[in-house]
Formats: sequence, structure tokens, C-alpha cells
Amino acid sequence: LDNGLSLTPTMGWLHWERFMCNIDCDSDPHNCISENLYMQMANVMVTEGWKEAGYEYICIDDCWSSHQRDAQGLLQADPKRFPSGIKKLADYVHSKGLMLGIYADLGTETCGGFPGSLGYYDIDAQTFADWGVDLLKFDGCYMKWNLLGEGYTNMSIALNKTGRSIVYSCEWPLYEWPYHQPDYHALRKVCNHWRNSVDVEDSWASVKNILEWTADHQNIIVPVAGPGGWNDPDMLVIGNFGLSHDQQESQMALWAIMASPLLMSNDLRDICPRAKELLQNRHIISISQDPLGKQGYRTAKVNNFEVWERPLTGGQLALAVMNKYEAGGPRHFPLTLATLPSWKICTPECNVTQILPSYKELGVHTLFSQLVVAINPSGTALLSITPMKVE
Ligand code: DGJ
Repeated sequence: LDNGLSLTPTMGWLHWERFMCNIDCDSDPHNCISENLYMQMANVMVTEGWKEAGYEYICIDDCWSSHQRDAQGLLQADPKRFPSGIKKLADYVHSKGLMLGIYADLGTETCGGFPGSLGYYDIDAQTFADWGVDLLKFDGCYMKWNLLGEGYTNMSIALNKTGRSIVYSCEWPLYEWPYHQPDYHALRKVCNHWRNSVDVEDSWASVKNILEWTADHQNIIVPVAGPGGWNDPDMLVIGNFGLSHDQQESQMALWAIMASPLLMSNDLRDICPRAKELLQNRHIISISQDPLGKQGYRTAKVNNFEVWERPLTGGQLALAVMNKYEAGGPRHFPLTLATLPSWKICTPECNVTQILPSYKELGVHTLFSQLVVAINPSGTALLSITPMKVE
């Protein structure tokens, strides 16, 4: 969507995978969906280096609203859980130099059973703008699939009419795929990013499944990604319970290669130092945020390794090699022309930097170098390769 926003993939935090539809503030006040949760996240975003690393948007997902619209027909936050209201929350988040995201649904109800926006697109867009919201995630439950295009387009127009800059995050293709191949050129014009595949869960099986879906559909989805419009493989679940550290590195590396929005869903108030360091790794973030804005894709599957590559500005290449063999110890992958046709960028020479599993300058190489990387089971080696011109 050409609204000047999301020129590089959106970075921030989104409550859904970690906090779900927990509305029980009586028995679980620390984790329920309430204004406190977002205020606490905003505080930590600033004090713990997240904002400085580039994470900017604090996003509310489903289950924030009251079960009824107000007397004027406007959406309203649950008064018990958001006693100050969303406008105050947005002011608070802005006072920290951050942005606030909110959630709505284009059908009759949200997936969680709260009021939907069907019939209220202009009104709800204006409410969000009046509150000072900076991003809208628009879900697609309770809507006929053949009306998705119209609905997503109308909300895009409604947001634009408010005159406020609001990142527009869609789920249109996710809901259309079961019936029909979505028109990616149309949706690129309408949305800043769009969810294609099933909801991420806190497990390696889930992350692998999303990567598989993406690779299977890459010929359709990769060419349309670029500044202002991104494929969204869903949240980063790094820092939770289900992924080993190697698997967390794989998610981070591959989400950067895929030019995905980096929306963490975890508890930033209590996150282990290794996960934090990984999520804040500036070398990986700079691949994710590369201004050329080309999405990477899977280029090879060989010997239970997967190779993914992303072209970067200045003719650089980001390269991820994932070890898909989930037994044994580290396995070696040779970086040679035979395993990696794009190694030809090392003609006559290239400079190789390993970013994961640890940062290492691997020096200058040629087409005939014998470079080998060791990769743990379900882990990923992430490298950047810079071609060198010889004067
Ligand atoms: C389905 C979406 O895909 C999820 O990301 C989340 O927003 C839930 N709906 C909320 O009900």
C-alpha cells in the first residue's frame, strides 16, 4: 500500500500468541488483556533497548473491546480492563516515543466473538484515528470469502480518508486461500502487510510449517513484496517456551530473510538474556530492514539442509543455511559453487561474515575457497556475502 508507511518491514510487539484472549483480570491480573499490559510493555520497550533496536509498534490484538458498541454505535474498550480508554493508552505509548496498534475484524464479529466492523468501516476507522492509533490489524472472521476483497479495500479507503498515518495489516489471503488464489497485485495496493498462512504457535512444528508454506508458494508471493507491502508469516515466538535456542535462531534468521514484519509475541517483562540478545541482534535486524526491500526465498534443499537467500543493497547477499536433520550433532555444509550456485558472486573475490550462530568475520574468499559452516540440528547459519571488485 502506497501510504508512505512500512517502507521496511514493521517492527514491534503484538499480544496474540503469548497472551491470547486472556480476559480474566481477577485471577490473572499480570497477564490479562488490559491497559496495564501494554503500558508495561511500552516501559520495557524503552528501558531494555527494544526501541533502540528498532521495535516501534505495541499492538493490541483481539479481545480488547467491550461486548457492545456504545450508544452512538462506536467501538469502546472494555471499561474494566481499560479504565482510561484507548486514547489515553495511545497518548502514553506516544509519550514513550512508540506507536500503538489495534485490532478489528471486517466481518460481523471478531474471531474471539467481540463486535465486528461490518457496516461500520468509516466509523471505526475514524474512531481509531481519533484515538491516535498508528496501526490496524484487520482480521477476517465471520465474513463471506467472496466479499473479502471488497471489505479489505473499503477499510483501506476508510483509513486513508481519516488523514492519519495508519499501518494497515491484513489477513485477506489467509481467509481466501481455502477457496481461491488471492490476487496479490490487488492486495499489495490495499495493505501494508498480509497474513498468508495459519496462526503461528509456540512450537518448532509450527515454525517449520510456515516456512514450508512460504517456500511452496514463493513463486506467487515473493515477487509482490517490497517497500510498503510485505508477506506476513506471523509473529516471532522467540523468548517463550516452545523453541530451543537453535530453533529461535532459525526463526529470527528466516524471518529476516523473508523480509517479514518482526512482531514479537512474548513477555518482554521477563525474557531470557539469550533470546533478548537474538531479537536485538543488529546484524540480523539490518538484513530484515535492508532498504532494497526484496524478499528472500528458498534456493535449495540438499542433504537435509535448506538454503535461503535474500538479495541486499549494494549487491550483497544474505544467506541462511538451515539444518533440517533433527538428530545427531552439528553437521557441516560446504559453501562452494557446487552446493550454492550464487557463490559465483565471489568472482573474483568476496568478503564473508557469519552472523549466526555467532558473529565471525570469515575474511576474503574466492570461487574456489573451501569454506565450511557447522550447523546444529534445527539451527541455522546466517551469513552475509559482499562481492569485492578488484581495481
Ligand atoms: C485469527 C488471527 O489469525 C490471529 O492472528 C488472531 O488475530 C486471532 N484471530 C484473534 O482472534
